[in-house]
Formats: sequence, structure tokens, C-alpha cells
Amino acid sequence: MLVLGIETSCDETACAVVQDTGDPARRIVSHSLFSQLREHAPYGGVVPEIASRAHIEHLDGLVAESLKAAGLDLADLDAIAATAGPGLIGGVMVGLMTAKTLAWAAGKPLIAVNHLEGHALSVRLSDDVPFPYLLLLVSGGHCQFLIVEGVGQYRRLGTTIDDAAGEAFDKTAKLLGLGYPGGPAIERLARQGDATRFELPRPLWRKPGCDFSFSGLKTAVRLALESCGSDPSEQDKADLAASFQATVMAVILDRTRHAIAMFDESHGARGKHFVVAGGVAANATLREGLVALAEEHGMAFTAPPLKLCTDNGAMIAWAGLERFRLGMTDTLEAPARARWPLDAAAAAKPFAGAKA
Ligand code: KG4
Ligand code: ZN
Repeated sequence: MLVLGIETSCDETACAVVQDTGDPARRIVSHSLFSQLREHAPYGGVVPEIASRAHIEHLDGLVAESLKAAGLDLADLDAIAATAGPGLIGGVMVGLMTAKTLAWAAGKPLIAVNHLEGHALSVRLSDDVPFPYLLLLVSGGHCQFLIVEGVGQYRRLGTTIDDAAGEAFDKTAKLLGLGYPGGPAIERLARQGDATRFELPRPLWRKPGCDFSFSGLKTAVRLALESCGSDPSEQDKADLAASFQATVMAVILDRTRHAIAMFDESHGARGKHFVVAGGVAANATLREGLVALAEEHGMAFTAPPLKLCTDNGAMIAWAGLERFRLGMTDTLEAPARARWPLDAAAAAKPFAGAKA
């Protein structure tokens, strides 16, 4: 079974072909990605209109490249998958319309993939992690705990009530004059800094449940930077980056402890797998902390390899394949959606302002 996947929900134009084989190392047949970082860098963040145009310019070429690298024609594929949301709507439309056109022209089934499901299942592309598992999804747009019961079956335990963790990294990096995306830049700078120098607030620390809040932290970083005077030194910035990262990690670990307890309560002995996915999961300090925490709770820990943590086409192709083999296909009327929660029931409940 061969599935082509297209990802265009943010600032990566990506495309991949994956196959259904028992050996995880052979599942990605080909993989192409164009990172729009340079287009957005002058603006310190992703500009939606620039992103949509760049997707239009690069997607056709990437699809051709992926097929060529796989030694395949469109006719050899079993299905075509694309991100149908959530994300920047212009980009989502470009990818989804391209997939619909290819599916229609080649007479292949279409699978409209939820980008979050792509992240949620990415670990099953690189490792055979069984359902159910507890998932921490931490990216630029999302920060939530989900119980992954099966393909298309998600229960949200907690989410951010304001900013996502990756967003906090990006905003802090901007304050410190580092480039976009902020996560890798902060992680690098933090290695030279003293994480104990600045005491920053830990939002929702030790509060019941497993929701997150990061917007206050951003303000605290700004005030700490201002306390260093009008011309902060490189060491000031490194210390602030380290203090910020340590605070975010402490908060995430605290929230994870609560999420593990909730998972344990509902799933007991069946709930023994913990997974982290999404761009922030590329952070080495976070991974180390989560590995230790999972071990402490007798849980197996798995994270996708770094290149599958940030947005990519393989995770969309894989989610498409998982859906396709269960007979879950979509019609050409499938809508592009700016918002699309994985657990619609939970999204309707606790925080009106929470992101889907
Ligand atoms: O999953 P992703 O590529 O896109 C979304 O779906 O949002 O995640 C991108 C986010 C950005 O906010 C970026 O700063 C963050 O992931 N990120 C990191 C690291 N690498 C990427 N955050 C912390 N440490 C990293 N090493
Ligand atoms: Zn993503």
C-alpha cells in the first residue's frame, strides 16, 4: 500500500510517499520538504499570504520530486492524503486542492488529514507504538495532552488556555533578538546560560488538571530583559534564554505528572505508553526530562526522530495510510478548515478562548 501525503498548513511545503510495511525503517519511500524560513525571517514570524504563495510556487515541483525519488507514477499510488486543517487557511487550501486535483485526475481515493492527527500518529510511523497511549502534543500552534485510543479516536485531557509552548519559544526569541523559529535558537543559546539567574513565574504550576498557560511568561521575560538595562549583554540574554527554557520545562513536567495520573486513573495497566510529538518535542532538554518522568512512572517513552517532530509530509502520508487501511476516505467536497479540534467534545467545553 502506497500513499502520497501533502503538508501545507504553516511554513513548510512538504510531500512524501509512505508504504505499509512491517519494518518501520522502510516506511518512508521518499520525502521532500521546502522550508520557507528565509521568506518569513525578515518579519520575525510566519506571514500567511507569503506562506500561501510559496506553497503554490513549490508544491507541484515537490510532488514530482517525491514521485520521481520513489520511482513511482501517480497510477502506482493507492491513495492521496493532504492536511485539511487546522492551520493557515490559504496554505491548507493550496495543499488540499492540489491533492483533490491529483486524486480526481488519477482516480484515487482522497484522505483529508487533520494536521494534529498527523503529529499524533507520527510515532507509529517510526515505531510500532500500540494504542492506547498518552500523547503530549507540543508545537507552534498547539499544546495539549490527548489519550490516543485509536485512529480517529482522541480524548483531550488538557490544553493551553492562551499561547502554545512553541509560540512562547518564538515570542521569547523575538524579544531576545534571535531569529525565527525561536525554539532551536533558544535551545542553543540556553546552553551558555545560567538557568537559575532569573526567577520567572510558573503558570498553573501544581494546579489540578493538566492545562497550560504561557502568555504571562512572555511578559515576565520582557520585564526581566528590561531589568538588564537598555543594552543587555550576550550573557544576560543567554541567562534569560536558559531561565526561560528551564521554566517551560518545569511547567511541562509538572503538567505531565498530572496527565499521567489522569491516564492511569482511566486506563490503569493498559495505559503504559507515553509519547511526545510536535516541533517542541525536538528540544533535547524536554526529551531528557520526559524520559526520566516516564521511567519514574513505569511507562515506555517514545518520540519520533527529530525530522518527524517538526512539520513534514511523511506524517500526513502516514496518517492518511492509517485511515485508508481502515476504509476512512473522504469525498472531493472535504472542506479546508482553519480550526479543527481532534476532540470536538473537549474543545467545546473548558476554555472558550482555548485553541482548537
Ligand atoms: O510542529 P511544528 O513544526 O509546527 C506546528 O504545527 O506548529 O512546530 C514548530 C514549533 C515552533 O514554535 C518552534 O519554535 C518549535 O516548534 N521548536 C522548538 C524546537 N524546535 C522547534 N521548540 C523548542 N526547542 C526546539 N529545539
Ligand atoms: Zn505541526
